[in-house]
Amino acid sequence: MIDEIERYFYDFERELATVCTRDDLNRIKGKYIGKKSGLHLFLERLKTLPLEERRIFGRRINEVKAAIEHLLREKEEVLSEGKHGEEIDISLPGRKHPLGSFHPIRFVMDEIIAIFRSLGFRVEEGPEIETEFYNFEALNIPPDHPARDAQDSFYLGRGYLLRTHTSPAQIRVMEKLKPPFKVIVPGKCYRRDAFDATHSPMFHQVEGLVVAPGITMGDLKGTIEVFVRRLFGEDRKVRFRPSYFPFTEPSAEVDISCGVCQGEGCPSCGRKGWLEIMGAGLVHPQVFCNAGYDPEKVQGFAFGMGVERITMLRFGIPDIRLFFENDVYFLERFKSLR
Ligand code: DAH
Repeated sequence: MIDEIERYFYDFERELATVCTRDDLNRIKGKYIGKKSGLHLFLERLKTLPLEERRIFGRRINEVKAAIEHLLREKEEVLSEGKHGEEIDISLPGRKHPLGSFHPIRFVMDEIIAIFRSLGFRVEEGPEIETEFYNFEALNIPPDHPARDAQDSFYLGRGYLLRTHTSPAQIRVMEKLKPPFKVIVPGKCYRRDAFDATHSPMFHQVEGLVVAPGITMGDLKGTIEVFVRRLFGEDRKVRFRPSYFPFTEPSAEVDISCGVCQGEGCPSCGRKGWLEIMGAGLVHPQVFCNAGYDPEKVQGFAFGMGVERITMLRFGIPDIRLFFENDVYFLERFKSLR
């Protein structure tokens, strides 16, 4: 019922904005607060509700009614002023137009992109609807890998699916460009995860790929360290932990020192002192072969990071769902970031 009341008020405001004459005004007055108006129907319905709900809805209905009456009076004044041809009071303060702001994900994504651009990376894109070949096979992900399970991916049939990571763009970029190159690929990804505090079925990643003769783990570490310090601050430490991904060898997970406890261990980092921010590694020779490159001639490093996670760490946001609820009070917190 609350939704209906809000909708009613919203409709009223929209209609009021179109009113130019007294007749119009009287008509919408009758329609919205008259004897046969929807407002009366709400009041009728109230009587049938339990006491607690009656109290809540009743209060909102009264507020809406008062607001409608107030707006009608205001409009009436405006209309009658027009009639007497009164002069415009140029000393009145102007109307404020509330300014929008960037969504925190957009903001952090743009920051990430700006940092890599300054390091000479170019920005590429890949399709969100991918083939199983690019999403898995070409990346050396074997047919029995759990990520391929229908439980985990949105399959579209005929060999297509919503990409589960931005890594397939690695293959597409290799097919399109000639080495040496440095690219990042920002974009949306999809997984059949539960929607909880740390998972969302749609999320964003930024993939990175550098291919040139003689690339080493040292190049990867140097690049990531510069990136982390620029994004999170000069005092942050970076740690590479051995890990496994089918498309890199060796593979690593990258941690940054916790900004709250400086690595001591505290509740916000699960007492570890470190926070994981991305996967990375040297491009697997098989992946080069799959993309038509000779792994004897070129080497490369790759990395992939989750933008929601990084944004949560950056701003201390506790729940990923906040990004997608479009709650204006939440979004307004990021107004100063323009
Ligand atoms: N694609 C991986 C994921 O979604 C992340 C990743 C790990 C990307 C290592 C990479 C990499 O490029 O080298 O979990």
